[in-house]
Amino acid sequence: MDLMEELKQYMEANNFERFQPRELYEPLDYILSLGGKRIRPLLTLMACRLFTDKVDQALPAAYAIEVFHNFSLLHDDIMDESPIRRGKATVHKKYDTNTAILSGDVMLVYAYEYLSKVPTEHLPSVLKTFNEVAIGVCEGQQMDMNFEKQEEVAEQSYLKMIELKTSVLLYGAMKIGAIIGGASEEEAELIGAFGRNTGIAFQLQDDYLDSFGKQAKVGKRIGGDILQNKKTYLVITAMQKSNQKQLKHLKTLLSQTVEREKEEDKIEEVKSIFRALDIPNEMEKVIHFYSNKAIENLEATHLSEQQKKPLLNLLEKLMHREH
Ligand code: IPE
Ligand code: IPE
Ligand code: MG
Ligand code: MG
Ligand code: MG
Repeated sequence: MDLMEELKQYMEANNFERFQPRELYEPLDYILSLGGKRIRPLLTLMACRLFTDKVDQALPAAYAIEVFHNFSLLHDDIMDESPIRRGKATVHKKYDTNTAILSGDVMLVYAYEYLSKVPTEHLPSVLKTFNEVAIGVCEGQQMDMNFEKQEEVAEQSYLKMIELKTSVLLYGAMKIGAIIGGASEEEAELIGAFGRNTGIAFQLQDDYLDSFGKQAKVGKRIGGDILQNKKTYLVITAMQKSNQKQLKHLKTLLSQTVEREKEEDKIEEVKSIFRALDIPNEMEKVIHFYSNKAIENLEATHLSEQQKKPLLNLLEKLMHREH
């Protein structure tokens, strides 16, 4: 069976439908059943399959990673004041903020519950990797919030932040899959490196789509990052390329919180500066740079062309995604 199909069946068989109280668990089924791309657990299974045919062993860990990702989204949407995710109301909007906090908390615990089902011999190294990942995500999320209040952010600081908030999870997803598949520490690390660079390119594309995607496809409110004064790569590059007047304008726009009626104007003003400075094109270039790094990581392994193919295809698909 196709890996994604297997994952879906496992997720369905392990949903939270019969758990009580419903007020706590219903949001878990709500967010998980809205799907999303499920690329992290897919990467876990794909990484595992590089080293063994017994991919089933990695299903609980793959699920753990997807549950963890969804936990981080529940809390992220509160922090980012996001109203829409996966084309539907976010959990804190559909229910309320306290529910989104607590349902998120219990998801984090279930992530560990499923992670603990990995074959015993791999448990210590899987746990170590997962803990590093979870701590990294929190550190990255805090940096992301800190940057909202900073007028300027250095390119290197931004890259560090997205490596933590996003790409460590792709790194961990793949490294854990490889470990469960029986890879050596060294091989697992190389597979993880592919995940890390894929993750950086992935977050850069996420930033691009937040401003220039179509809401019907992205499933989130377009311009949310601009409203939150996020210092995305678009902003950083725009600041580097802007003249004095544009720079002043940009800094003013991105240090204010505007009333509801002025939100669309702010989004449009910032986007028109991005367009004038050719930022969409700059984004394409930098995304390309990191996806090439990911390809180099894969080249450094001893995998056959046939083994590398599905990963390269997935990377290619992700770099051109519209959601
Ligand atoms: C959103 O991740 C959060 C980021 C780290 C960019 P995805 O774009 O993978 O979201 P889903 O799971 O497919 O909805
Ligand atoms: C989210 O980054 C990273 C984590 C959830 C850890 P974003 O805030 O950019 O993700 P979206 O755009 O809301 O999906
Ligand atoms: Mg965020
Ligand atoms: Mg967000
Ligand atoms: Mg985003």
